[in-house]
Amino acid sequence: MAAASTDIVYPHEHLLGIEGLNPFEIQAILDLADRYVEQNRQDDKTTPILKGRTLINLFFENSTRTRTSFELAAKRLGLDVINISVATSAIKKGETLVDTAMTLNAMHPDILAVRHGDSGAVALLAQKVNCAVINAGDGSHEHPTQALLDAVTIRRRKGRINGLTVAICGDVAHSRVARSNIQLLHTMGAQVRVVAPPTLLPPAMDRFGVDIFTDMEAGLKDVDIVMMLRLQTERMQGSYVPSVREYYYYYGLDRAKLGFAKEDALVMHPGPMNRGVEIASDLADDIDRSVIREQVEMGVAVRMACIDLLTRNQARRVAAVDG
Ligand code: NCD
Repeated sequence: MAAASTDIVYPHEHLLGIEGLNPFEIQAILDLADRYVEQNRQDDKTTPILKGRTLINLFFENSTRTRTSFELAAKRLGLDVINISVATSAIKKGETLVDTAMTLNAMHPDILAVRHGDSGAVALLAQKVNCAVINAGDGSHEHPTQALLDAVTIRRRKGRINGLTVAICGDVAHSRVARSNIQLLHTMGAQVRVVAPPTLLPPAMDRFGVDIFTDMEAGLKDVDIVMMLRLQTERMQGSYVPSVREYYYYYGLDRAKLGFAKEDALVMHPGPMNRGVEIASDLADDIDRSVIREQVEMGVAVRMACIDLLTRNQARRVAAVDG
């Protein structure tokens, strides 16, 4: 059965963040993604329902899984895909972000998936174009499709999000994944904890409405989900941890620390992983506890759902104007 979003309502022009989405809109995306998971497990994974549309991947930061996942998602729905990375773009010749966006906009893409190192850059760009924009990660601000794919993974494994306790651990200060997940998990009724050394907690963490821990034993006690984050050294100026060895000793997730969580607690990580830094290698690969590979699988389905919903919104708007 081909998934189609005609019965699902997502009223926004863009997907710039989880902030601003209500529980019904989030649920709409998760429900549609679930249908695409089934399609992606068939031999024939394509339903070209969006044939003739174009998605441009505009990535100003390195990426393997997110960029590939957007490309695969778009192709499975029949869109044409163009990939632009900053290393080969006119940005290298001094063009501004806005000029690049307007140049691409003039070629009439339907969707721009944009990743940028500066928080707020993707929202700025969205104001300058008349196609739909998906935030594929902006600085340490938001990464909405990651939070949505994490939510699909959790919901499929645990049957719900409401009422779960989730610990987000590690480099929270520099993590857009943490910010989007905190928003989504709160909106969907989960309890959120963050566990990190004080140097890796953002200054206004108490305003996020989470329980804050600086100790893994206390922070992981009885949680349903342990979400590990990478030490994002590319966003750090100077040193935030005494040494990687010491960090692993106190904050790296191994079997002993996972023992503080519930017996059936799941381990998550958005990737890329630093094995032996934030997570023990054998635990990352333990398919009974770790859903890290499943997260990647869900990423394609979630991005198909987002592309589907946003392009159909455009069609509805055009029809409304014409009518
Ligand atoms: C995350 C990101 O880019 O924010 N990765 C991803 O999209 N899968 C997390 C990270 O880079 O550590």
